Amino acid sequence: MKLFIDTAHIPDIEEIASWGIIEGATTNPTLLSREEGDPREILYRICEIVKGPVSAEVIALDAEGMVKEARELAAIHKNIVIKIPFTVDGLKAVRRLADEGIRTNVTLIFTPLQALLAAKAGAAFVSPFIGRLDDIATEGMKVVRDTMEIFMNYEVETELLVASVRHPMHVLEAAVAGADIATVPPKVLRQIVKHPLTDIGIERFLADWEKVKGGKAK
Ligand code: G3P
Repeated sequence: MKLFIDTAHIPDIEEIASWGIIEGATTNPTLLSREEGDPREILYRICEIVKGPVSAEVIALDAEGMVKEARELAAIHKNIVIKIPFTVDGLKAVRRLADEGIRTNVTLIFTPLQALLAAKAGAAFVSPFIGRLDDIATEGMKVVRDTMEIFMNYEVETELLVASVRHPMHVLEAAVAGADIATVPPKVLRQIVKHPLTDIGIERFLADWEKVKGGKAK
């Protein structure tokens, strides 16, 4: 499973990209609204750091407006992928953009059938929002499992990108389900790295090594 970073915050992206585990990034209007500066410049910088697909979302709600905005966003950098919300107009825009060779990521997916329709329209990625389903007492991960099964049944090439990830269990379950990608906020990536037994282990090794240096180890 590939790991993308779900943020537009450049310091976090720079730091975590340096770990060597990130293969793409996702943004949305909310994430970009939290950052200072021109969103287009921020998107360009993310592309330069991450060196993989970087999702940038359209604001327009009509297919014509989405396609126009998508072309402008795609011109920022070759790695930009256009995030399109799942609506009828969104599907129309995805088909037109696929025919032009512009990759899309259909967002705000909450059912496997929405994912199937998005794939049929030509989406490169579909993004089920797991955390937001869990928020309303509906199992988000079931959408991931069912969508994976449908995509495997029919050898669908669209990649399943697990989004709205809130904690490490979401990442674990996405990987067990065979999801292609999970996009993970910096906080959750840092939680995954941390393990108290690793910290205690390092402490013990260092303490024992001090004894060797002091000539007291047997
Ligand atoms: O990848 C989509 C994500 O940013 C939405 O997450 O936590 O706002 O549901 P959340």
